[in-house]
Amino acid sequence: MVATPHKILFSREQIAAEVNRLGQEISQDYGDREIILIGVLKGSFLFIADLIREIDSPAVVDFVRLASYGSDTQSSGIIEFRKELEMPIRDRDCIIVEDIIDSGYTLECLYHKLLLQQPRSLKICTLIDKRGRREVAIDADYVGIRMEDGFIIGYGLDQDERYRNLPDIHLVEDV
Ligand code: IMP
Ligand code: MG
Repeated sequence: MVATPHKILFSREQIAAEVNRLGQEISQDYGDREIILIGVLKGSFLFIADLIREIDSPAVVDFVRLASYGSDTQSSGIIEFRKELEMPIRDRDCIIVEDIIDSGYTLECLYHKLLLQQPRSLKICTLIDKRGRREVAIDADYVGIRMEDGFIIGYGLDQDERYRNLPDIHLVEDV
């Protein structure tokens, strides 16, 4: 399916303002403590790149790669780990950086897996919190934008691997 000009739902200016706010909140909460930002590939690559530049606290980056089986637009709840963390996180302050929380399965799975490695603290930061289709009770500590439902693309978010390069976030109306 070709997603030709879809309506802009969140503009690049709005995204930048929210990312700036999140960076300030995180910097205030952590101060001089070093944070490990754990990006969830691939969707969060642009968000984490912008977010880390808005954080004044010392910060290092690592990535995990997860894939959830299912259709393009619906998570199945079966999560596959395709890339593990490279840094030890025991006794470290960690923040998971996600592009979007939808059903919540991906994050719940990752969160509990990381907890087993005994970080000093483990928080969740998501650019988008899609609340309407949540199936497991998991909440982010830092939320950029809240929305109810709908499939979105752009700013790292894909439809079948495409459209990650759109600078704004668009609503796909024909899924
Ligand atoms: P969850 O396990 O259902 O919470 O799914 C989260 C993952 O599904 C995200 O990390 C995205 O990769 C993908 N996803 C969920 N909603 C959207 C969307 O609206 N656009 C693009 N990807 C999405
Ligand atoms: Mg993702």
